[in-house]
Amino acid sequence: MVEVERAIYPHSDRSIIEELKARGIRKVLSYGPLELPNGVRVLGKGKTGIVVLTEDFKALKIRRADSPKETLEIEAKIQARAEGVAPKVFDFGRNFILMEYVNGRHISREDVDVLPKLVEKAHELDSRGIQHDELVRPWKNVLRDEGGNVYILDYDDASIRPNPRNVTSVLTAFGLVDLAKEYSRVKDIKYVLERLSQFFHA
Ligand SMILES: Nc1ncnc2c1ncn2[C@@H]1O[C@H](COP(=O)(O)OP(=O)(O)O)[C@@H](O)[C@H]1O
Ligand SMILES: [Mg+2]
Repeated sequence: MVEVERAIYPHSDRSIIEELKARGIRKVLSYGPLELPNGVRVLGKGKTGIVVLTEDFKALKIRRADSPKETLEIEAKIQARAEGVAPKVFDFGRNFILMEYVNGRHISREDVDVLPKLVEKAHELDSRGIQHDELVRPWKNVLRDEGGNVYILDYDDASIRPNPRNVTSVLTAFGLVDLAKEYSRVKDIKYVLERLSQFFHA
């Protein structure tokens, strides 16, 4: 266990520390696949956040002190709207999102077994008007757990739009360009799922 200030990156920031402490977050676990230069282990690191495991096994995304974004609040609200697709949001503030921890791994092109589930989740985002915007690179933003469940992470670039293209992006990422085009035209998710089961179980 380490003091939460040691997970603030790349330099100390008083307002981040104060907000976390005011919300009762003082210590985190040094655990995960990545190590910060100061030796603290973390679940992940991106361009806007550092993600650490808390004492009660939740994932805490802390705004990077050098993030170009002033606040994580918009991201957190979109993520909350994506409940059931994204890790559940428990609390958030300008500098943090406290969410469900996903004990899983990033997907790769070989993970076609979870593609139907991923397409359904992408469709769920479409129907809630959420454009994720990074699903052309699902390898960076999708985790799968042992039970084969998938979670779409990181709503940093997401926005609310009338015609989201998450399903199209996922299909394109997996090289299913023709199916993506057909979906854009007919917008029939059942048809896409049938075609996927033909491809992969035939
Ligand atoms: N809820 C979570 N459970 C487990 N690992 C997570 C969770 N959220 C994020 N991570 C890990 O942290 C990484 C960075 O998080 P992300 O939200 O993409 O940050 P950024 O906006 O800075 O790119 C992810 O790619 C993932 O490996
Ligand atoms: Mg990211």
